[in-house]
Amino acid sequence: MRKLLLSLGVGAVAFAGDWDLEAPTGLKFGLIKGYENWHVVATHFRTDKNELRYIIGNDIAVKAYKRGVPLNGQKFPEGAILVKIGYSLKKNPAFPASLEPNVIQRVEFMIKDSKRFKDSAGWGFARFVYDAKAKRYKVFGKSAKDYMQCFSCHQSVAKKDFVFTDYVKRK
Ligand code: HEC
Repeated sequence: MRKLLLSLGVGAVAFAGDWDLEAPTGLKFGLIKGYENWHVVATHFRTDKNELRYIIGNDIAVKAYKRGVPLNGQKFPEGAILVKIGYSLKKNPAFPASLEPNVIQRVEFMIKDSKRFKDSAGWGFARFVYDAKAKRYKVFGKSAKDYMQCFSCHQSVAKKDFVFTDYVKRK
């Protein structure tokens, strides 16, 4: 039986079965269960993909950010998780100049587990692509090879512990 567990943004839901999805890196979607309540680190807008992204973090990651990690040269501690949710956009019906999140495109995350992910500076990567028609998530990639691109692109911010997003000031 499909049990409705959470509702994120407009028109995207995760079913109980989705938590069991496992990326070829060995990381399950269920590892980030409850992420819809985590702290927002920042938002990004990708001009090339016309996509809005929320970057959110678990307690360990957000506490580290607040201590100045990674800009202070320190690394994120074990267990830190950063999640990225990508949304397509739509116009606000009452005010079309205002664009807002529409449908989730994918949820992806990186977790610091140095013992397990020695070859990628301690970060493990996972991506789950949202199929809006089926209202289910699907695992991205068929083998660990498909995930080499993650670490390889994140290498460009090696000095910031391979994390692009900085904590955004809000007061
Ligand atoms: C071609 C470059 C590129 C590739 C490949 C890539 N990323 Fe990223 N990633 C980025 C950029 C740039 C950001 C900053 C936020 C944004 O623009 O979406 C980011 C942000 C993230 C974040 C939020 C933390 C941070 O570093 O800011 C996570 C989590 C993430 N990516 C996971 C993944 C996963 C999982 C994969 C592989 C399946 C992947 N990325 C592949 C460029 C890349």
